[in-house]
Amino acid sequence: RSRISSTVTFITSEQATNLRSVMPDVSIRESITKLGDFQYLKSVTEDPGDGQTTKESHSLVFVSDDKFAWLPARLTKPIGIEDNTATVELDIPDDWPNSTANGEAIERNELRVVNLKDYPDYELPKQNIDRSGKLLSKDDMSNLPNLHEASVLYNLKDRHYRDLPYTRVGDIIVAMNPFHWIDGLYSGEKRRFYNDNLVWNAIKKEREMKKKIEAGKGELQDSFFQKPVDMFDPHVYETSAYAYHDLMTNNQNQSILVSGESGAGKTETVKIVLTHIATIESSIFGTVNPTEDTGALEQPEIVSKILKVEPIFEAFGNAATLHNNNSSRFGKFTSIYLDKKEDKECGFDSVYSVAGSSFVTYLLEKARVVSHGQRERSFHIFYHLLNAPKEFKASVWDGLKDTTQESFSYLGSTEINHIDDRSDSQLWEEIQISLATIGFEGERMISLMRALCIVLQLGNQTFSPDPHDAEGSIISSQDELLKLSLLMGMEPTVIEKAITKRKVKAGFEWIEAKMTAVDSKDSCDALAKKIYAQLFEMLTESINESTAPTDLDVNINSSDHKYGCISMLDLFGFESFKVNRFEQLCINYANERIQHRYVVDNFISVKEEYEREGIDTFDVSDIENSAVLKLLEGRMGVFSILNDECVRPKGNAESFVYKLKTIHRDSYKLVVKKLDRPWEFGIKHYATTVKYDARNFVTRNNDQLPKDVLECVCKCTNDIIRSRFETIAIERAKQPTGIRRKMGATSATVCTKFRTKIIALMEFLLTSKIRYIRCIKPNENMSPHTTDHLVTMRQLGSAGLVKAVNIAREMFPNSLSHDKFWVRFKCLTKLNIDENLDVKEQVSIILNEQFKDKLPSSGCHDCFYRVGATKVFFKPGQLELIESRRATRKHKAANIINNQAKAYRKKKNFLTLKRGAILVQALARRKKEQAELKKKKEVVLAIQCAIRLARARRTLQKKKEDRAATIIQNR
Ligand SMILES: Nc1ncnc2c1ncn2[C@@H]1O[C@H](COP(=O)(O)OP(=O)(O)O)[C@@H](O)[C@H]1O
Ligand SMILES: [Mg+2]
Repeated sequence: RSRISSTVTFITSEQATNLRSVMPDVSIRESITKLGDFQYLKSVTEDPGDGQTTKESHSLVFVSDDKFAWLPARLTKPIGIEDNTATVELDIPDDWPNSTANGEAIERNELRVVNLKDYPDYELPKQNIDRSGKLLSKDDMSNLPNLHEASVLYNLKDRHYRDLPYTRVGDIIVAMNPFHWIDGLYSGEKRRFYNDNLVWNAIKKEREMKKKIEAGKGELQDSFFQKPVDMFDPHVYETSAYAYHDLMTNNQNQSILVSGESGAGKTETVKIVLTHIATIESSIFGTVNPTEDTGALEQPEIVSKILKVEPIFEAFGNAATLHNNNSSRFGKFTSIYLDKKEDKECGFDSVYSVAGSSFVTYLLEKARVVSHGQRERSFHIFYHLLNAPKEFKASVWDGLKDTTQESFSYLGSTEINHIDDRSDSQLWEEIQISLATIGFEGERMISLMRALCIVLQLGNQTFSPDPHDAEGSIISSQDELLKLSLLMGMEPTVIEKAITKRKVKAGFEWIEAKMTAVDSKDSCDALAKKIYAQLFEMLTESINESTAPTDLDVNINSSDHKYGCISMLDLFGFESFKVNRFEQLCINYANERIQHRYVVDNFISVKEEYEREGIDTFDVSDIENSAVLKLLEGRMGVFSILNDECVRPKGNAESFVYKLKTIHRDSYKLVVKKLDRPWEFGIKHYATTVKYDARNFVTRNNDQLPKDVLECVCKCTNDIIRSRFETIAIERAKQPTGIRRKMGATSATVCTKFRTKIIALMEFLLTSKIRYIRCIKPNENMSPHTTDHLVTMRQLGSAGLVKAVNIAREMFPNSLSHDKFWVRFKCLTKLNIDENLDVKEQVSIILNEQFKDKLPSSGCHDCFYRVGATKVFFKPGQLELIESRRATRKHKAANIINNQAKAYRKKKNFLTLKRGAILVQALARRKKEQAELKKKKEVVLAIQCAIRLARARRTLQKKKEDRAATIIQNR
């Protein structure tokens, strides 16, 4: 589910420090305000003052243009209401010549009168301008204040010009092909940054948080909408890091769908992502050398093996085209299997480590084997082989020794002899090593190369009418036929007969039909294509055998195994050319399926949730495509009618198109025009309407070698070719005959096989979490920094990006259950809310209060939030707004508590001091009193003594006197 990124994000102070130290040039780096444990980190460009704030900026608009799609302009006069026109002056920026491809001369300040009827809602799309008056650029396009085609185009253009190839649209990464390797963009340091922040540290933090919550110590943490990635420059490493992260935390399979047209950078992107995924595990121990740029680091054997097989796909499946010297002419689904291993040392209980891989390929453009455009080439491997050392060539086949590409008519002359700075002979060395890793060495390698020679030699056969029979034909190049026969180990006459004559069934008998020279040539070409396609298939199987984990059968398309899986799809994007053939129909069908998945995952499930919650929903009819899918693959759809036509003895394009138009005359997805020729029809695809030319549909869909050709190839002495074709022959023999023949035949057609593969792919995707990378080719000349507006716009349309962003903006990216909302935000209100009220009402009271200052003229808050049956839904930025209020409130509350605590402590100190003072005073007083008392006691004692002395003296005196008297008396 798409979650449009929040404009304000929480990060910890530690993260903020990391951020600044590692990526000092990240645009989002200022305005950090400390708030408790968390910091609010806000992009400078997220300033609410952005976009259309000044009077000046209101007059800055885009106007449509035939050559540049959209041009920036300034309104010079108020809009003429009566005639619906506006006068504008073009406002072409200074960097225009450097940043714009196809630099048609343009007058910088040309005045133009534009008709508002040509614009949606009679409004000119506004430019996004920042405070300094410059065009505003966002790393997440859903944050553009004015969002439309033109703003998306100029945002991408600006970033591409500044060497920032990646831009986010919610969860999708849009990748503009930079056409030059940007310094540091794929460095070990960059990888480590994403690994640390999005994988290892993120997982640790989440686990701690979970533990706290489980222990009842944490409340619903701020992290529930925390998305650390919002702070980083968008990058495909974030997609791969998140895939690994989610695999670690949810044990759920992950898929990354990379789409785009030829030359947009899909294959490079998949390589970048694949290399990253393969090395994430090792980064946990810090083995990635941070200054190392190439990604070549100490790798487990399986990882280097997986990376080494890539050149095989490139050599056999890529070719130089007008738009891309290294264009892959097939689709590829790469799965990396990861084994969950216990590993307490690393701080996590277990980590996923790469255990193997598997590859599924789609629709190899085998027609390229027999013909290619001027200034283009056939598949690379032929040129690599012809540039191999002479001795090797001689060991493959004598006839190859002194040949060059000009010796073979399928190749012809070409000026291209380098692919991305490496010559064909250098690439030959590389491919030899790669082939050896999957077991193609010695005789097996020779056999494979000889099979390639057979393909090339088939192309050297020429045909002419049979001098003895004007209806038939013969091979006129007898020398070349002899060479071919030596290569195939067969009699020349057998080959000639198989190619120039056809056995057909007439009633119960087989008769020999003659073929014209043109038909014979076609038959020869068909054989060459079939052999090459079989070699490619065989190599894919060998690669799978050699890289898949030993206990996994990759042929069983199941996710029921012990491995976690991260998969990447590199498939041709949606195509619409002047003439669209059968292959375009298949490619566009695959893209329709992927689009369907995308819409279901991102919009339909959300729409259903909104409906359950009783919230008005958005319209997805623009991008929802089940009607097209039904037209294509439904019970009586395009594929089914075509298959029927293929089993009819005289099936042809006209009758196929006629049936299609009759059966689907009411379908609004089938485009029928009066001026269509009988073999033409159109389909309204989600991206655009495509007109197809059905003339080759029946043969291309059938794609079966005639029986006699097949029997002939099965006798070939080349063991690779023989074994492949024998298998085909055995399968063909198993096909039902009689009434069930039709079923058997249709199950073998190209469209049925392709559909089966795509459905299997979709089923796999259903079990996985899908992420999208949309590659865009900014210009046709492969030049860096420049953007061709029309080329880019075409791709934005095909990818359905603008529509998707617009819908995404209508959605509510954040939601919270009523209970959680109440617990979290009741602190915001001072109102005395009745505890007995229903929680929905309580929540509504808080929200009403919170948004009362923002009440728009409509008098309702729908543009900010909606209260559903069980949840509250927020438009972008609104939850963050009340979150920030809550944080402020918490901050204030924390201050109050802090102050109270301080006061309490001070008072306590004071009281202690006071008590101390009193005690000291008392002690002092006591001491003084004691001294005085002592003195007094002494005095009293002295007095007492004196008195007692006097008294005693007196008594003694008396006693003395009494005694004396007695003595006297006795005498
Ligand atoms: N990320 C990138 N950085 C630099 N150059 C790139 C990048 N991606 C693609 N390219 C260039 O663009 C060319 C075409 O890319 P490729 O992946 O083959 O396109 P696609 O697979 O979509 O046809 C490559 O040969 C390479 O020169
Ligand atoms: Mg490619």
